[in-house]
Amino acid sequence: MSEYVIEGGHRLFGECDVQGAKNSALPILAATLLCNGKSTIKNCPEILDIRATTKILEFLGCRTERKGHFLTVDPSSADGCEIPETLMREMRSSVIFLGAILARNGKVRLSTPGGCEIGLRPIDLHLDGMRRLGAEIKEEFGHIECSAPEGLKGANITLSFPSVGATENIIIAASVAKGTTTLRNAACEPEISDLADFLNSCGARISGAGQGTVVIEGVKSLNGTTHSVITDRIAAATYLCAAAVTGGEIKLNNIIPAHLGPMIEIFEDTGCKIRTESNNIRLKAPERLRSVKLIRTMPYPGFPTDIQAPVVAMLTKADGTSVLIETIFENRYKYIGELVRLGARLRVDGRMAVIEGVERLHGARVRTTDLRGGAALIVAGLAAQGTTVISEIRHIERGYEAPEKILGMLSANIKRIDTGENTDEQE
Ligand code: EPZ
Repeated sequence: MSEYVIEGGHRLFGECDVQGAKNSALPILAATLLCNGKSTIKNCPEILDIRATTKILEFLGCRTERKGHFLTVDPSSADGCEIPETLMREMRSSVIFLGAILARNGKVRLSTPGGCEIGLRPIDLHLDGMRRLGAEIKEEFGHIECSAPEGLKGANITLSFPSVGATENIIIAASVAKGTTTLRNAACEPEISDLADFLNSCGARISGAGQGTVVIEGVKSLNGTTHSVITDRIAAATYLCAAAVTGGEIKLNNIIPAHLGPMIEIFEDTGCKIRTESNNIRLKAPERLRSVKLIRTMPYPGFPTDIQAPVVAMLTKADGTSVLIETIFENRYKYIGELVRLGARLRVDGRMAVIEGVERLHGARVRTTDLRGGAALIVAGLAAQGTTVISEIRHIERGYEAPEKILGMLSANIKRIDTGENTDEQE
């Protein structure tokens, strides 16, 4: 097992680059299955979820080659149609392979992805989308089987909720369907546009990605390409939270400021000075942050659910009481009990978190419950006086590339310690 050991209570200052986006790289790597030739994905973060995705690609028959942040996928012998339960359990977002395997091989069999720490995570919208494209679906004994022996056909699809994953699966599958698909109430996250950019560079004909309605004109085949993944807006915002809560001043390079839109307003509401240029952002925090009356997580371009936990951690030391409502997932406050161990004053009532700002937090031993909850513990540990030890950090390393190195470049005192007992299933 590994741990982070943080000596908190110091301002963050300095500058660093930000990793490539996990939630962009995952669907794009799944989509490489549709290509006739090799694809090289650049700016691909070195994180556990990408390692799990690479294992699935290889299990399906792909050859992969990782060189630093470049990941090359050769799908020429990827005839596999099934993802075994062990690999599905290792990363529940493996459901993103559904559309790609179905479109490539005409059938796919997955074990039903269970829920996870943040909610039930149903996939009804994914399956309805595949059905609309002409697939037959069987769900039995904890498995899902989709088949489209005559291939997929374009369709009109309206999502009842702008699900990111369902939007991605439908775009991927429809890109090589016969005819045109019009997808309404699609998710608008920047990662959707990045996926469409990747597919279009392979020869797909997708328009409207990032807006509510996406039109996908199916093509016969796609070629391999080289594509650089966008920067991770959630990782960037996490490091901004760390600087804000410690009264720091940092600059993040090679980011896309427009993708941070709704988060920038929250930082400004807390009294931080923000300056953005073409591909970087500077944050200068006040001595003590102001509280924020109400934050509600929403689909993009609203305030993202993925930054909810680090922002709650940031507000634990604000002057006054803040309220946050989590509208996307039903159980995304599991980390709150660990923040209380650091001296935070927090109450959760259903989907609402009430954060009563305190003057100081104190170091403690805390345990990571999930990816973004773990990021919240790092943010709070950096703000706490004394030593904070964070265990179960494999959850954090699913989505953040070497956070101890990035934060070290921002003058934080954080070390990654290997405690030797190898109980982490992913290590
Ligand atoms: C993606 O998950 C992201 N994961 C999540 O990031 C992110 O929190 C989420 O989008 C929302 O932005 C990846 O991209 C790998 P959804 P996804 O489908 O696609 C319900 C992180 O921390 N729903 O938009 O699973 C669902 O239960 C992760 O990086 C259905 O009801 O999210 C949830 O309440 C966590 N039926 C809501 O929609 C469905 O078929 C949003 O889910 C699908 C979803």
